[in-house]
Amino acid sequence: MKSVEFAEILKNEEIADSTYSMELFCPEIAKKAAAGQFIEIYTGLGENILPRPISISEIDSENGKLTLVYQVVGRGTDYFSQCPVGDMLKIMGPCGNGFNISHDIKQHIIVGGGIGIPPLLELCKRLDGEVNVFLGAKSSPVLADKFKSLGAEVFIATDDGSVGFRGNVVELMEEIKPQGKMIYSCGPKIMLKFLSAWAEKNNIPVQVSMEERMACGIGACVGCAVKIRKSGCNDWQNLKVCKDGPVFMGDEVVWDE
Ligand SMILES: Cc1cc2nc3c(=O)[nH]c(=O)nc-3n(C[C@H](O)[C@H](O)[C@H](O)COP(=O)(O)OP(=O)(O)OC[C@H]3O[C@@H](n4cnc5c(N)ncnc54)[C@H](O)[C@@H]3O)c2cc1C
Ligand code: FES
Repeated sequence: MKSVEFAEILKNEEIADSTYSMELFCPEIAKKAAAGQFIEIYTGLGENILPRPISISEIDSENGKLTLVYQVVGRGTDYFSQCPVGDMLKIMGPCGNGFNISHDIKQHIIVGGGIGIPPLLELCKRLDGEVNVFLGAKSSPVLADKFKSLGAEVFIATDDGSVGFRGNVVELMEEIKPQGKMIYSCGPKIMLKFLSAWAEKNNIPVQVSMEERMACGIGACVGCAVKIRKSGCNDWQNLKVCKDGPVFMGDEVVWDE
């Protein structure tokens, strides 16, 4: 059940080029939130501006706090980056379904690309056993040190080779050949598509968190539809990322259009 809350900004600082970490005090939403869910943030730029979906990166339900990591790409995110500590933001959440975590699984692989990395941090905290984390970015991935501090083994791929392996994360996984019983991922659609193919070839189930463009954010339009296979047949249906996702099984998604 979603709540609408006015959240106080406790922190809002630039952690990388045009990338900000924001801490919000929102006890109602924090106590219900799960790893992989997102919130909708209203911009205060006028009634006609739609709220912006941003993933929950860390949850501190005891102290009523959520941390988000966002990149400035347009009007809404630019507005957030200029909000000072102490300002109030209207938010709605938690939205979506989040990752499916099984405590029977003790060997996990996390794969994040670009601004898809943040929601995987809370997930990493909640997994039992061994966790191998693969992070991909143009030049330097965000939050790599935070994953390391959780005890995960972290492998990095960058497009320009400035940090770690030169290439993409799936090519790096092909080199390392990590073992795992479940893959959890978030990042650009093209990465999720190739990762799903890699996972199928290696017989490992993969959960993919899709970041489609959204409009209403509450399942009332079809702005965020993705094609998902119906089980047991070759047919597919349009499901909504904001309501039915953002997390789907990789082998359910119809990738080619
Ligand atoms: C479920 C979900 C979770 C998300 N989590 C995060 C997050 O944790 N951190 C983060 O930085 N961003 C996240 N995003 C993307 C974020 O919602 C958009 O970047 C934001 O809404 C852009 O708003 P804007 O007003 O700044 O830009 P706009 O002016 O609306 O758009 C500026 C540019 O960004 C592009 N853009 C907008 N939305 C998306 C999108 N969803 N995917 C790709 N390109 C887009 C537009 O095509 C345009 O080129 C998430 C999106 C979804 C759907
Ligand atoms: S954004 Fe309207 S249905 Fe998802």
